[in-house]
Amino acid sequence: MSRLTPISFCETDLDTLATATGRVAVTVTPDGKLDVAARRVNRLTRGAVQRVVSDEGFAKVRNGQVITLAWPAGLEAEALDILVIERRADALTLRKAGVALAKAKGTKPLLVATGSMQRVGALAQGISLRDYRFDTHKTGEDAGAEVGGVVIQHNKPEQAAEDAGPLLAVAEGVVATRDLVNEPANVLTTTEFADRLEEMRALGLVVEVLEEDELEALGMRTLLSVGQGSVSPSKVVVMQWNGGVEGDAPLALVGKGVVFDTGGISLKPAGGMEDMTMDMGGAGVVAGAMKALALRKARANVVGLVGLVENMPSGNATRPGDVIRSMKGDTVEVINTDAEGRLVLADVLWYAQERFAPAGMVDLATLTGAIIIGLGHENAGVFSNDDDFCKDFLKAAEAEGEGAWRMPLGKAYDDQIKSRIADIKNTGGRPAGSITAAQFLARFVKQDTPWIHLDIAGVASVKAETAYAPKGATGWGVMALDRLVRDRFETF
Ligand code: BES
Ligand code: MN
Ligand code: ZN
Repeated sequence: MSRLTPISFCETDLDTLATATGRVAVTVTPDGKLDVAARRVNRLTRGAVQRVVSDEGFAKVRNGQVITLAWPAGLEAEALDILVIERRADALTLRKAGVALAKAKGTKPLLVATGSMQRVGALAQGISLRDYRFDTHKTGEDAGAEVGGVVIQHNKPEQAAEDAGPLLAVAEGVVATRDLVNEPANVLTTTEFADRLEEMRALGLVVEVLEEDELEALGMRTLLSVGQGSVSPSKVVVMQWNGGVEGDAPLALVGKGVVFDTGGISLKPAGGMEDMTMDMGGAGVVAGAMKALALRKARANVVGLVGLVENMPSGNATRPGDVIRSMKGDTVEVINTDAEGRLVLADVLWYAQERFAPAGMVDLATLTGAIIIGLGHENAGVFSNDDDFCKDFLKAAEAEGEGAWRMPLGKAYDDQIKSRIADIKNTGGRPAGSITAAQFLARFVKQDTPWIHLDIAGVASVKAETAYAPKGATGWGVMALDRLVRDRFETF
């Protein structure tokens, strides 16, 4: 597992600017005003900061960007980062500024002088989100170097730390998701995944692991049919955070946790198959969100449920053409064993509603390649049976800078998954592949359950760096879900 960069807050102390090692960051406004710390550094460097802001190119520098001066004379530090930021910048801009500082930082220690900056927690969160590396499997020279910590100087350090507390908790949730999603499938087996979730009991979560015999007794045959070709046992893990009013119906978060998706008997082509280690991305986000809620002690009842399976071909794997009975009782004709995520979710969604009668239900899944064709890596696909609930989610995602775009549902799409011999089939052909997948899930959602399905196949893990994350797992969705809980489910 990767380490979180330690971030601490302390009183502004201008004298340390000269002597700090590693990197030093000070702020100037886009119209070229230096704050007290920037003025001190300007004097120490004999006017270097002023020369930067007086340069005509400075006009093109945008709010939230960083200009770096290497080996600045007059400072012990090996680099000076000049953060260009408005005095009253909004939280998203401050977070992006934190990202810019973290990108420059590398593995060095960093001292940031923030004076009386407002919303300094958002800056800290940005640093925490971007100063991430997954290097646990490197050896030799590439092996995890010591990562320098971050000290944020502020005129009111207690207040700054208090502001940052919940935001850093959420960042820790995001990082937990990334660690799970980046982990290869020989390490993160279903058993290892469940073990890591059980560790979250230390945070006050109630964690249960349902084993195959219990799943069998519950009738979760569609879920079990996906895992039956693997030597790794299928599991469902239930995580409860009871921070709200006792007895209040919880929000349910449901995640697809296919630790590896070969496609099964409908085997995927070899090229790119290694990417299917991220097919547990939905479960990863549920885990990270639960961690964030527990760390910041959210005043809400939230239950996370993940279906952990491995989709492998073998002599006892499910065949195309097999008919399977779901926990709900509906029968499914398996046309393609590679459309396995919906089979896993069908049973977990039903179980979540039968057991918890949730006030709302959000599922997350790396469900379809088609959503990548439709929306690329910028937006997750959002499907919902409830306009209000959906609007709240879209608002939360936008506020957190996580791309999300609503897609339609409708009877004509549902007709595409009618089966000749069973109640439904698990694929609806090439047209509208993401929608027919969502339509399949909708069959397992009760009429009065407000429900959102998030198809995160395009956003869970990305080959280029994104707004908040280096290449690889992004943790997309943890921040939006956390905000959704804050805005809609935290009541007192
Ligand atoms: N896990 C895949 C979807 C996926 C594709 C996730 C690319 C991330 C990146 C899913 O189980 C799958 O294989 N879906 C099929 C469905 C088809 C057989 C109806 C797909 O999208 O091709
Ligand atoms: Mn598949
Ligand atoms: Zn899959």
